[in-house]
Amino acid sequence: MAWARERSAAAGLSGTFPPPPRRPEPFFCIFGCTSAHLPPVSALLRCFSGILAGSLPIAKPASWLPPSMPGYQTKQESIAVAGVADLVIRSLLDKQQYYDPLGEADRMGISSAMWPLFGLLWPSGAHLAARMAARPVDITERVLEIGCGLGLASLVGHRRGADMTASDCHPMAASFLAENVRLNGLAPMKYRHGHWSATAPEQDAAEGASPASAYVHGHFDLIIGSDLLYERDANASLAHFIGRHASPTVEVWIVDPDRGNRPAFNRQMAEQGFLMREEKLDRAASPGVEAYKGRLLVYRWAAPMPPAPALH
Ligand SMILES: C[S@@+](CC[C@H](N)C(=O)[O-])C[C@H]1O[C@@H](n2cnc3c(N)ncnc32)[C@H](O)[C@@H]1O
Repeated sequence: MAWARERSAAAGLSGTFPPPPRRPEPFFCIFGCTSAHLPPVSALLRCFSGILAGSLPIAKPASWLPPSMPGYQTKQESIAVAGVADLVIRSLLDKQQYYDPLGEADRMGISSAMWPLFGLLWPSGAHLAARMAARPVDITERVLEIGCGLGLASLVGHRRGADMTASDCHPMAASFLAENVRLNGLAPMKYRHGHWSATAPEQDAAEGASPASAYVHGHFDLIIGSDLLYERDANASLAHFIGRHASPTVEVWIVDPDRGNRPAFNRQMAEQGFLMREEKLDRAASPGVEAYKGRLLVYRWAAPMPPAPALH
């Protein structure tokens, strides 16, 4: 198919490690399009790569092989987010990519199967980005995205003028975010390492070894995240992390594709003192768009709270 040829022309292979996958996964865009369901050019969701991206009035990279992305395959697409102009996003080609020559990810407990998750666009991330596109910007608010992956929602907020901080635990997340900031011609955006599963002593030790400014610290008025509940979290690390960084008037938005761990997370958030309301985001399949099942979870403190001590 023509679109597949275009996409493969746009995919940048830099370096020889690891070898290219024998059979790439079908194209999967944030709205659930697959190679079998890709919409025509006129469709609302213009999820095309390579050649089409070049036709958009957005800065194109000087090279398909940026030096900061060696050793794995990527693709570049123009991503439509309801309510705002399209974004150009560089992502991993597929979920078979893996590159951890220094064992950094491994040391953080990120297995080879989990390694590529940060570098793909997920349907829940598209919903979160659309919410950020619709939210009035208040420049006095600090907004934190946790487990941002490629940070689509952060990019939307940042481009609209919000005070965004994107965070993740993945060693490559910062590079991809910087690349996508550059591709969209945006001013630099804040990125902080934010590993919610690290124990407090581990976090303290890591912070002692690096400048505090490299880590998520302080309190935020809006904390957002999407598709974060796919692993069991017996220690309630995520809920604690959110609680530590929540301002007294915080609103927390988590978009979740009905993961089985959601009820446990709700309980853990309640134990932290949060009240929750939820909004179903279910949508039926339509031409070019796959069905979505999930919900937006919105948390606020049940009672006015003094902020917890910041991590610094
Ligand atoms: C399924 S991806 C979702 C990415 C993005 N939020 C989206 O919706 O497109 C999950 C993300 O959570 C991050 N993550 C997983 N466990 C984490 C942890 N303990 N601390 C920080 N980030 C974590 C992963 O690195 C990955 O970027």
